[in-house]
Amino acid sequence: MCGMAILKIARMGHPVLLGRAAPVSDPTAPEMRRLVADMAETLADAGGIGLAAPQVFQPRRLFLWRDGPELRVLFNPTLQSVGDAFEEGWEGCLSIPGLRGRVPRAQRVAWRGWNERGQPCSGEAEGLAARVLQHENDHLDGIFYLMRMNDLAQLGFNEELDRAGMPRR
Ligand code: NI
Repeated sequence: MCGMAILKIARMGHPVLLGRAAPVSDPTAPEMRRLVADMAETLADAGGIGLAAPQVFQPRRLFLWRDGPELRVLFNPTLQSVGDAFEEGWEGCLSIPGLRGRVPRAQRVAWRGWNERGQPCSGEAEGLAARVLQHENDHLDGIFYLMRMNDLAQLGFNEELDRAGMPRR
């Protein structure tokens, strides 16, 4: 494909990451198609598993996430936890490079939204997929994983945590 671009990623401290993103009225609009293609390129380049539009300076309600081998897009998402089981797991963020921390998340979520063809879609996710969805959805409301942590002693630089034998996930 031609015309795709690797976008600059906003880092924590930039105001675009702290606001509430605006809904997308037409996911099939050419500028949205372009944005999704560029975000896919950016995510592949950065090696992450999810990317929300505010992270590339676009305060709109959409994110991409890797669901196994598939890269999926969700516009105007809503998430709801299913059951009351929470679990802790390690998270990092492309907007907070070099760090990871242990974050409690709902173990299972129901999600709904619109795909890139403007069709409604929904599903359930658990474990890592549920965690990624919650992390990316939070970016649409100006929330970082750090704000969800119970214990900031469980935050560290990847190099140090790796050296200490802490798991990546
Ligand atoms: Ni993030």
